[in-house]
Amino acid sequence: MRLKIIAGNWKMNKTNLEANELVRGLVSSLGDVDHPRVVLCPPFTALSEVAKMIKGGPFFLGAQNMYFKESGAYTGEIAPSMLLTIGVSYVILGHSERREYFFESDDIVNAKVKLALKTGLIPIVCVGEKLGDREKGKTEEVVGNQLDGSLQDLNSEEMKKTVIAYEPVWAIGTGKTATPEQAQEVHVFIRNRLKEAHGAVADTISILYGGSVNDENASSLLKQADIDGALVGGASLKVDQFTKIVKSA
Ligand code: 13P
Repeated sequence: MRLKIIAGNWKMNKTNLEANELVRGLVSSLGDVDHPRVVLCPPFTALSEVAKMIKGGPFFLGAQNMYFKESGAYTGEIAPSMLLTIGVSYVILGHSERREYFFESDDIVNAKVKLALKTGLIPIVCVGEKLGDREKGKTEEVVGNQLDGSLQDLNSEEMKKTVIAYEPVWAIGTGKTATPEQAQEVHVFIRNRLKEAHGAVADTISILYGGSVNDENASSLLKQADIDGALVGGASLKVDQFTKIVKSA
């Protein structure tokens, strides 16, 4: 059985005060739910606040990024140990917004993934094609290259600990979701690609779907055999929507 995970990527939203309000709502609606695994990924500034609020409950904490060095003169960056010591378990890496706006290459993502695993964080590695790629029939080529590059040199033990998120760029924040069939097709492609390198381990890896997931489309996506959860953006900022998504998993 693969672990089902619903992760909320808050992106650059929520001050500490707003985070407190959102998490208070989630604790009251989902505080006794231990399946699926719920991961909250607030901005760095709200991690400590959220960590305090979810202590002892079923929620896990995730960061949205980290640097690929353990410490040093890297002004403005955050090291994995800083995340671990405040109770962070997961870290989103290689999100398409980081790739696009902050020029993160597969090599950079790969360095981050390796350090996350070395220090004990669980990476959620994001891949996904742009609309133009899909229209040119290049989805598998693009996603395959991102997987190969971002996961380069990982051994099967490390791979087993890693979570993948398929997020087609054209579906992020657009209200346009991949159909369950489109998503399932790419998830199978991803799993097969992982199988080529790591054999049966691929069957244990959770592959999440992300891109305009909401309370109406979540259950049909999550019913697909190879969709093991969701990485939710906009809808994770609303207690009622996120609650419904978690409950539909
Ligand atoms: P939306 O759910 O807002 O489309 O964002 C998806 C996403 O990028 C999650 O990481």
